[in-house]
Amino acid sequence: MSIAGGHPLSGTVRAQGAKNAALPIMAASLLLSDSTLGVRRVPQLDDMTVMRKLLASLGIKIESRGEELYLTSPSELSWETPERLVRLMRASSLVLGPLLSRCGKAKLPLPGGCAIGSRPIDLHLKGFAKMGADITLEHGAVVATAKELRGCRIYLDFPSVGATENLMMAATLARGETLIENAAREPEITNLAEVLRSMGADIRGEGTGTIHVKGKRELQGSRVEVIPDRIEACTYLLAGIMTGGSVTVCDIIPEHMDALVAKLEEMGLEVLVEGKSVTVPSQKRGRGISLKALPYPGFPTDLQPQMTALLSLADGTSVIQDGVFESRFLHINELQKMGADIRMQGNAVVITGVPFLNGADVVATDLRAGAALVLAGLAAKEETRILNMGHVHRGYENLEEKFRSLGAQVKMLPDEFIPSSGENPSEED
Ligand code: EPU
Repeated sequence: MSIAGGHPLSGTVRAQGAKNAALPIMAASLLLSDSTLGVRRVPQLDDMTVMRKLLASLGIKIESRGEELYLTSPSELSWETPERLVRLMRASSLVLGPLLSRCGKAKLPLPGGCAIGSRPIDLHLKGFAKMGADITLEHGAVVATAKELRGCRIYLDFPSVGATENLMMAATLARGETLIENAAREPEITNLAEVLRSMGADIRGEGTGTIHVKGKRELQGSRVEVIPDRIEACTYLLAGIMTGGSVTVCDIIPEHMDALVAKLEEMGLEVLVEGKSVTVPSQKRGRGISLKALPYPGFPTDLQPQMTALLSLADGTSVIQDGVFESRFLHINELQKMGADIRMQGNAVVITGVPFLNGADVVATDLRAGAALVLAGLAAKEETRILNMGHVHRGYENLEEKFRSLGAQVKMLPDEFIPSSGENPSEED
């Protein structure tokens, strides 16, 4: 992507459906037998294409009607996930729980590490084992088998989003009651719980650290909606601030953005919340702050790189840490190329604000690192060219069009990966 920076962005964008909510909701269709899950507001992103192909390979019939996706699960499903697809997306592991509880067996090639750090699925597997599954490794693939999953108490060492989702889905068809302690509390978990409940599941406690699930014999089809994407929405707001413009994001749930709003206010910035919209009016760039990314309701790790870009233009010094992915700092090298004054000190990032950034040729190493570079490029003097934009397209629907509608001067580079095929061979975000 090529960005001619320095133009204040102004206007309104509507948030897409949340990528990280749509993925588990689509996987939940595997829990059904001979019935259909209709899902509205599924974002048009590569990861959705990969999930569609993965579900289709397991037997799910998928149809798009307007903005809605219909996923119909047959009475018999395949339990083996194709390595070719799993390799494309770490969130493929979300099919494990529903497949295991529905088919009594599931096989998944083990995902490796990725740019944002080591990302094991040990907590998912320990939970399945506690529910009575036999877990083995066969040629680098996990094979989980259970004649019947049994409800039990599972304590998660870390409130993992994926593990909470996988275990919650598995528990809906298990015998008896499952208690997930130290569960993740992200809005995407709440969205999934609501979807499962609308399918007949008996779940309570989502959004708190303890989730109770009473297993049912079977679930029914339903029609549901994906929540707005809080990370995408926040990214557009930061673009408004960094370019000295005024941006509104609409059709969102402002409470999901509380952690960002609190930090912006701490920087001395004005944020206007009205109904389902949030606006950042045109203003100065604010003062430096300290911030640590933490599980929800803490500051989201998925916004940490974009916030680093913002703080590189703030007055004074800022310190950033990431308590979820401790080494999610690959964007720093690239921001330095643009003139940002950033250094690592132990496991913290120390940023001394500079008055401006310069355009440069930079590389997106992963989805959110790439988003941080887009923001920096929009604010920088002259041209920034970002390579590997395929990573960014995985999380941001119609990125160019949305930024252009706010007045940004952005162009796709000829070799830029254009989303739609789902065959971007880089591993997950
Ligand atoms: N972890 C383990 N063992 C596990 C699972 C997680 O050690 O079995 C560790 C991870 O290594 C990491 C931490 O726990 O250090 C958090 O991982 P979590 O499981 O919560 O993350 P995830 O489910 O793999 C989802 C999002 C990520 C987001 C994280 C944290 C999806 C598809 N992905 O990943 O989204 O960063 O939660 O909020 O929901 C993104 O959108 O850019 C992205 C990376």
